[in-house]
Amino acid sequence: MTAKEIRQTYLDFFKSKQHQIVASAPIVVKNDPTLMFTNAGMNQFKDLFLGEATVKYPRVADTQRCLRVSGKHNDLEEVGIDTYHHTMFEMLGNWSFGDYFKKEAIAWSWELLTEVYKIPKDQLYVSIFEGDDSEGLPRDTEAFELWKQYVDEDRIILGNKKDNFWEMGDTGPCGPCSEIHVDCRPLSERNEVSGKSLVNADHPQVIEIWNNVFMQFNRLKDGSLQTLPAQHVDTGMGFERLVRVLQGKTSNYDSDVFQPLIQFISEKSGFEYVSSAEPGDKGWNEAVAMRVMADHIRAISFVIADGQLPSNNKAGYVIRRILRRAVRYAYTFLNFKEPFLNQLVPVLAEQFKGVFDELYLQKDFVQKVVLEEEVSFLRTLATGIQRFEKYEANGKIDGNFAFELYDTFGFPIDLTELMAREKGWSVDMDGFNSALAEQKNRSRAATAIDTGDWVIVNQDNETEFVGYDLTEIETEILKYRKVSAKGKDQYQIVLRQTPFYAESGGQVGDTGRLEDHSRQFWVEITDTKKENGVIVHYTDTLPTDVDGKFWAVIDEQKRELTADNHSATHLLHAALKQVLGAHVNQKGSLVNADNLRFDFSHFAKITEEDLAEIEKIVNRKIRENIKLNEQRNVPYDEAINSGVTALFGEKYGDFVRVITFDDHFSKELCGGTHVNATGQIGYFKIISESAVAAGVRRIEAITASKAEEYIVNQSKELTQLKSLLKGSQQITVAVQALLDENAKLKKEVEKNILAKAGDMKQDIAAKAVEINGVNFIATHVDLPNADAVKNLAFEVKALVPNLYLVFTTLIDDKPGITVMIAEEVVTDTLNAAKIVRELGKEIQGGGGGQPFYATAGGKNSAGLETVLEKAKSFIVK
Ligand code: ALA
Repeated sequence: MTAKEIRQTYLDFFKSKQHQIVASAPIVVKNDPTLMFTNAGMNQFKDLFLGEATVKYPRVADTQRCLRVSGKHNDLEEVGIDTYHHTMFEMLGNWSFGDYFKKEAIAWSWELLTEVYKIPKDQLYVSIFEGDDSEGLPRDTEAFELWKQYVDEDRIILGNKKDNFWEMGDTGPCGPCSEIHVDCRPLSERNEVSGKSLVNADHPQVIEIWNNVFMQFNRLKDGSLQTLPAQHVDTGMGFERLVRVLQGKTSNYDSDVFQPLIQFISEKSGFEYVSSAEPGDKGWNEAVAMRVMADHIRAISFVIADGQLPSNNKAGYVIRRILRRAVRYAYTFLNFKEPFLNQLVPVLAEQFKGVFDELYLQKDFVQKVVLEEEVSFLRTLATGIQRFEKYEANGKIDGNFAFELYDTFGFPIDLTELMAREKGWSVDMDGFNSALAEQKNRSRAATAIDTGDWVIVNQDNETEFVGYDLTEIETEILKYRKVSAKGKDQYQIVLRQTPFYAESGGQVGDTGRLEDHSRQFWVEITDTKKENGVIVHYTDTLPTDVDGKFWAVIDEQKRELTADNHSATHLLHAALKQVLGAHVNQKGSLVNADNLRFDFSHFAKITEEDLAEIEKIVNRKIRENIKLNEQRNVPYDEAINSGVTALFGEKYGDFVRVITFDDHFSKELCGGTHVNATGQIGYFKIISESAVAAGVRRIEAITASKAEEYIVNQSKELTQLKSLLKGSQQITVAVQALLDENAKLKKEVEKNILAKAGDMKQDIAAKAVEINGVNFIATHVDLPNADAVKNLAFEVKALVPNLYLVFTTLIDDKPGITVMIAEEVVTDTLNAAKIVRELGKEIQGGGGGQPFYATAGGKNSAGLETVLEKAKSFIVK
């Protein structure tokens, strides 16, 4: 079976067991503060496990793109060195939300592996949770009994908390799990050493392929376990491992998942890929490098396609680190001194066509971003490597040096560690961390946030959002908690119903009030955000009577202005596609009451004409006063088939909200709040167009009263300008005439100055006094610019032989000195550069030049007289 068939077989199998097949969530996690990237298939269902959302389908299956490079699950160091860990990987998963439990999960996983995929039973081992006294958790005898129906008891392994109790992160859903391992060694080896002893022992041929988690708990911040309202199943099978097993390979990289990439790299680099090379063998370094590149490009590409660009912090830095790690392997071991990694993007996109189309549809954009990153890192990489090679480590790399590589050459610390390891050295991490902390302290105050536990006031599942229809509602508090950041306390409140829009899709959160029953007292709501789908209201003070009834009231004016900008953003997006082309995709958006900012994929600066055209289209659509068509709960597929614009990297539910302004113009999936008709936007004005990153442009614009103010101010300025120009109607013509005249006058002035200097030269030459064979002149000259002074000095020199000349000047109130000495009388002491340095002190300045001509500028014009007096002293006998 090909990888494609294997994936499809999995989905078909669970479809036949009444599972709804859903789409992979984006790999970049947007609103869960405990997670940067999707690290397991269950992430997108977290709120279902916790009972915070309503279950639509009790049985679900999918293939999820995951990334394990940060946080609790991090495999980065193994990647490329071994043959079965990856940064990005696909997790095949099936779920039960309060529906079936251990019995069915175990039966189906066995059926699929042994009867459908036909993996020989005698190559499989299973593990169950042995229990943990410190947590008060019993052995999973239920799973043990169930497995006994299918496998011999001696193929069932007891596992500890580390291996058989699965947790999503430091907090969140968790439970005992049961893993399935497969022994891929040849028969002879299997006969010699039992596979059982090699399970969970990092043997490259005895590997875990499937994990069945029986979700029963929520790990709280204080470390305790809270029993979930219902029992669930969460499974995850490593797709790349399954494919390798079914294709009879000994390495994931030998399967058809990775071979297209590996072959391409091998061909372009001219090195052969030696899959079987061991450390120390010829071809080992090259093989590792090829695996790293083939692996990393997948992580890089999908993260960028899902909307996260490489940057210097958080998720953006994680992806930049991975990219640099790959570039450095390519550079050092495969001799790629020019950008190459980006060429893998089209190969990968082709492979994932029909699976994760996000990449194929944006392949040019993703490739461009990768290329730019490569170009910028390669610029410093070579120098950094040279510095590293010259460094004498004595077994350990100094923290400050590691920091220099990081700060000046862009070496992520794990890259330095890796390069150190290749030399058998270690890195002084404490030293590095303190150098880093010092820099961070310098550049920004600590932003640590301390979040308290929720205090439950009223039990309920979910907040009902009523903000599309209402601006206020009477309701109750469900729960609240205290958060402290930067020494300031704040409270977060969750309500039973709320009209407050929580920040998302670029639109800022609503502000407003929580008024008490009498409506005489209230607390201000300063912001509204979403956390795992829960709408959280921020306030500086908690209402006194938290279990009473409240009126939740939003700031209507702010909401209205924000809606103007949000609807204008949709019109802009449509106009951009119309004028620039279909490749334009939203890459970022900010919509608030003051303005809108829209980032999108496009490769070149937008011309003035195109900008004008875009603005014109948007304003025409505003004047058409198109009525808002808001459709809620449209089935996702139906919406997509109707040609609606969806965003990459956004997680959409099965039912979506469609915002349409003119069926033939703008149709977007959107949860934001909008104007009832476009006329309300009034006027749309683009303020700036700029570049934000490789292949990403930004437009900032204003609407409604802000746009009006802007135009009024501009026109006021024009009126003032006109009156300055004495009522001239054609301002550009008048200003051009002024500029021309100014240029003419400037030329004339310069001519006059030269003439004046010409008149002065005879007078000055006449001042020469002969001292010890030198013709000495020291005088103040009054000329308006430095060029004229220089000219004059040279002309005097032409008139007076053996000249030693000192001029003092005052140009634009700044004192200056010019010294000119005929070459034939220059000596060690009669040296213009030296003299100017000495004399410069008198005017608190400095300067320099050559032995025959030098100048200085200064601050103290009172010293000019002394300069003239002292000048003579440099002539010696
Ligand atoms: N969530 C489980 C895992 O990631 C299935 O292993």
